[in-house]
Amino acid sequence: MNAPQAAPEDELDLMKEIISLCKQRGFIFQSSEIYGGLKSCYDYGPLGAELKRNIMNEWWRAMVHEREDIVGLDASIIMHTNVWKASGHLAGFADPLVDCLISKERFRADNAPRPEPGADLPIACGDKGQAKAYHKAITERFGIELRRRGKVLEGLKVIDEETFGFFADDSDEAAETFSYRGYVSPEIGCPFLSDERQFNLMFRTSLGPVDPVQRLARAIEGKALSRDEATAIIEEKIGENAVYLRPETAQAMFVQFANIQQALSLKVPFGIAQMGKSFRNEITVEHFIFRSCEFEQMEMEYFVEPGKQKEALDFWKDERLSWYQRYANDPSRFRLRQHEPEELAHYADDCYDIEYEYPWGWGELEGIASRTDYDLKKHSEHSGVRLTYFDPEKENPETGKKGVHYTPYVVEPAAGATRTTLMYLLDAFCYDSPRPDAQGKVKTRRVLKLHPRLAPYKVAVLPLVKRDGMPELAREIVQQFFNSGINAKYDEQHQVGKRYARHDEVGTPYCLTVDGESLEDGTVTIRDRDTTEQERIKIDEALQVVAGRLADS
Ligand code: GAP
Repeated sequence: MNAPQAAPEDELDLMKEIISLCKQRGFIFQSSEIYGGLKSCYDYGPLGAELKRNIMNEWWRAMVHEREDIVGLDASIIMHTNVWKASGHLAGFADPLVDCLISKERFRADNAPRPEPGADLPIACGDKGQAKAYHKAITERFGIELRRRGKVLEGLKVIDEETFGFFADDSDEAAETFSYRGYVSPEIGCPFLSDERQFNLMFRTSLGPVDPVQRLARAIEGKALSRDEATAIIEEKIGENAVYLRPETAQAMFVQFANIQQALSLKVPFGIAQMGKSFRNEITVEHFIFRSCEFEQMEMEYFVEPGKQKEALDFWKDERLSWYQRYANDPSRFRLRQHEPEELAHYADDCYDIEYEYPWGWGELEGIASRTDYDLKKHSEHSGVRLTYFDPEKENPETGKKGVHYTPYVVEPAAGATRTTLMYLLDAFCYDSPRPDAQGKVKTRRVLKLHPRLAPYKVAVLPLVKRDGMPELAREIVQQFFNSGINAKYDEQHQVGKRYARHDEVGTPYCLTVDGESLEDGTVTIRDRDTTEQERIKIDEALQVVAGRLADS
């Protein structure tokens, strides 16, 4: 017997397996791969596009179609620049960035490791050659000779919150001291760092027929300018027709609050939902599609009467958690985490994250924030347009009469569609126990146990052989599924065992096989992806059987 194919040894290998499966089976590719790829940009291939769309459709169904109190919106990605001034994104949507002076790594200061006073600061280089080069760079730049042990440089220690020192062998006295930022570079643990700079995460571009570069060139031509003067002119000229790619879908729901409320005569509480692309020039892009620069969000702003936000937050945090669990194989990998007061954004009075246990640990999947009346008030202030709601039934506390205007409070469940796609791939990927195939070879089956509603293909229809009328009959069956709006796949390539394996790997829940008997008695076999069990059913009932199983799933 052949040795079984190895299953991933640890959880991080799982990521490698998934990335490789995504490429092999056409789920997700690196963007512009033939040109060497583009960092943090991904293309969703035929199967990935279906999976992501199914996730987003399920979200839309649950949030919009199945609710009387929520309506949808599909706003433009580029919005007026004042939207981002009012929302605070232009001034505040920035990460503090730092460069490691030795390795040149650029990283976010707020996420960096923070060794405490008394801790050693070993600089852990990638290999011995790098250790030698960094040792030399530190000696030349800072005049100290660190001890080199293999690929680690030793001798630095945190003295107090503002100082670290170089300690020669056996000495308790620092031979040299340096100012300590309170953190070190994440990759090698180096405390020699540049100043922090604020870096705005929004992508800036320009709108209109005039090329800002030409205007800029004219403005600075022939002038002897200091760096600050040049920067001011450049900012002014670029700013004249600068626009931004939206970093979240949420703001359009605030900006269109009054139009939507009036057009549909909506009564508070009501929600506006939107899904679509968002863009952030993320410094740290990580874990495949977990954090990327171009991604998709699914957000809903739920407007409530002031004072009712806690009730709404409680409802939405539980509702959203159960939505994720509904489609998952392992509900225990989800949890709710309430934000500590110091974590809360300035506009929020409470917030929960739905977290998932990724291969690298627990991390955010969705945030559910109680955003107070901050956004509507800010947009009202900046635009001069009243963004309030008139409740004819509520008593006005000032007049004692019925009818009052107020600014609604907002509860926002904000999810990532691309991040959710990764999460369901992780949840679905598994290896079945080794078993012999038709040729007696022992194989470990790779299966994507995707929820049938999320699976790219709902059913594959396979002629056993490519002759004797089987392809024609299989195509007729596929057509019946198409006519009913069920995504079916006709597949005749390779022998049938390989086709089953291929469909197990892409998560197709059911395979219908047309064989010799089918032509005689009008039956086909239906094979279940998860149990691999097969049963014979009538062709006339195949559509009904699959549709019924999908509806029950
Ligand atoms: N309107 C609020 C808002 O945008 P957020 O926590 O920044 O909140 C919401 O984003 C969700 O969007 C996150 O929980 C995550 O699922 C997704 N998300 C945010 N940044 C992302 C990125 N760079 N790549 C992929 N998904 C991202």
